Amino acid sequence: MLRLRCFGYFVGFSLALGLAGQAESAEVNLYTTREPGLIRPLLDAYTAKSGVTVNTVFVEKGLAERVAAEGARSSADVVMTVDIGNLIELVDRDLAQPVRSSVLEAAVPAPLRDQDGRWFALSMRARLLYADKALSDLNAATYESLADPKWRGKICIRSGQHPYNTALISAFLVRHGAEKTESWLRGVKANLARKAAGGDRDVARDIAADLCDIGLANSYYVGLMRSGRGGPDQQKWGEAIKVVLPTFEGGGTHVNVSGAVVAKHAPHREEAVKLLEYLVSDEAQALYARADFEYPVKAGVAADPMLQALGPLAFDTTPLVEIARNRKAASLLADKVGFDN
Ligand SMILES: [Fe+2]
Repeated sequence: MLRLRCFGYFVGFSLALGLAGQAESAEVNLYTTREPGLIRPLLDAYTAKSGVTVNTVFVEKGLAERVAAEGARSSADVVMTVDIGNLIELVDRDLAQPVRSSVLEAAVPAPLRDQDGRWFALSMRARLLYADKALSDLNAATYESLADPKWRGKICIRSGQHPYNTALISAFLVRHGAEKTESWLRGVKANLARKAAGGDRDVARDIAADLCDIGLANSYYVGLMRSGRGGPDQQKWGEAIKVVLPTFEGGGTHVNVSGAVVAKHAPHREEAVKLLEYLVSDEAQALYARADFEYPVKAGVAADPMLQALGPLAFDTTPLVEIARNRKAASLLADKVGFDN
């Protein structure tokens, strides 16, 4: 058995050498804020397919600062992160370069990528309504309706300044303008069962404990909790709630994204584009999205069955770039109404 294995390695090694011989630069450098365990299987699949080695640099915080500090000598080819704000920051700091690729343009819907090809979303996370299972009539909801006085003292949510909520408030702002957003925020604030704090999973925890009836939280936490990946307590919280995909009135469900850019000074530009093109392939989209219970961006690729069970996602098509540009104003409004007080 051992011998067979060694032989296998030898063949693999020779193959890798052979490919490396064909193309001197058969490697690509990925800077990412995403947990290594999450993306490694995907990158290994790419290497097995293409022979290209993917070197990863995991940067938990200050990714844009790091790439900026490295300047023209940066070895970053692809920079991958979550939250539209972080993607736009890379563009605004002139750390990304435009990419024209018919593969990327066909796979990633227009609202989920930069018109000039400087960033591309790779997966989506939706801001969903978690609710007490006893609310059997609650099978649809709008974000607007969270300000309805019928929810007085019944809503749990994390800080209004957290990026997940800032992006939602920003989307509301783009859609409805400042005046309506402010009164909506005041309404939601008046409906809170407790201080706007904690994490998204705490919304499920507090619904399970009968502290509140409804709340907003991200889609992937449903999978993380219900799968038991976060332990038995979280599994109980996940099972204690029902989940509704809310929409804006006349619109869709608010989503944020994970995504990537080709770095401005990418030493392996061609390989960087090829890696991005792989990441939007059917195979990679399924692997990547399912690794963390996210929604694939490519139409026709199925999400994890646990997400599918929540019903179909019709994502809101407000351009993400508009949402990113209004985050500051959204944050100021949350502050103005004392959302977190
Ligand atoms: Fe999260």
